[in-house]
Amino acid sequence: MKATHFYDFSPKEDSFRSDVLKGLSLETKTLSPKYFYDQRGSELFEQICQQPEYYPTDTEIGILHENRTEIAQLSGTGCELVEFGCGASKKIRVLLEGLRPKTYIGVDISREFLIESTNRLSSDYPWLEVHGLCADLCEPITLAKPSDGQRIGFYPGSSIGNFEPDDAIEMLRNFKSLLGPGGTLLIGVDLKKDDRILTAAYNDSADITAQFNLNVLERMKGELGAVVDTSAFEHRAFYNERLGRIEMHLVSTQPQRIEIDGEAFLFEEGESIHTESSYKYTVSEFQALCWRAGYEALKCWTDDDALFSVHLLRVTGG
Ligand SMILES: C[S@@+](CC[C@H](N)C(=O)[O-])C[C@H]1O[C@@H](n2cnc3c(N)ncnc32)[C@H](O)[C@@H]1O
Repeated sequence: MKATHFYDFSPKEDSFRSDVLKGLSLETKTLSPKYFYDQRGSELFEQICQQPEYYPTDTEIGILHENRTEIAQLSGTGCELVEFGCGASKKIRVLLEGLRPKTYIGVDISREFLIESTNRLSSDYPWLEVHGLCADLCEPITLAKPSDGQRIGFYPGSSIGNFEPDDAIEMLRNFKSLLGPGGTLLIGVDLKKDDRILTAAYNDSADITAQFNLNVLERMKGELGAVVDTSAFEHRAFYNERLGRIEMHLVSTQPQRIEIDGEAFLFEEGESIHTESSYKYTVSEFQALCWRAGYEALKCWTDDDALFSVHLLRVTGG
């Protein structure tokens, strides 16, 4: 069975090109983590989730599973459910029987992967109307009002941590206009913790995160015709205690250049491209951020080891 509807608002190749040209021109060369995700990037992310060091996925699924009845009671059933950055749409399966939404809309930037995952969901849950929306969450998204009932947002995987805190507030504000007054948002957020656990999670011993990080250079080669020696870059991830975030970089192991459209971007040995930040929050830090975005905290669940949190928020008037 196919996904009921697919809406394609994929970002244009032009925006990848212009963002790369802009990002590599900065004093601290920077690329958005959204560019990790083509088909291969999405597949590599699924492999990361299976690595023993990468605790967030299993921990979040455990929290959702343990609290699925209460989540359904507090969120209400029969709603329209929108999952932001849904990827393989695996986590939502834990909640579907309890929430019994009428409609599921999976939103993701990784087009082919989204088509596959919404098709799988549709065939595994024949009672559910499944839609796929390929779009960039960094741009405001509009959806027709749900025919009846409320809309619930689901944003798992601590993807909110990939945004600078002010940008995270902006994104949560954008979600609000989709969810409407009284709408709810269920969101997974990685907690601050011992930095050895954090650092290990982003440096798995099978080097899958390294391949994932390097994939953005492969995309630049394949899609933008960039001239780049990917073997002369290596993955580096560390916890920046002062800023409360994991940083991922691609470090140049030698003096070199990347060329795109005849423009050359020079690297000294040891110079890096900052490819991802992943902010970690305490429960109260995150609730304060949500309050600024116009949400009230309904409930927060964590695991026994305080590794990960799942927040249920309600849109306030603000
Ligand atoms: C960290 S993965 C999480 C996947 C899944 N939700 C999970 O929790 O396992 C982030 C997901 O968000 C998608 N994504 C990243 N940036 C995005 C953007 N700007 N707009 C839409 N989707 C985005 C990626 O393609 C990927 O599927």
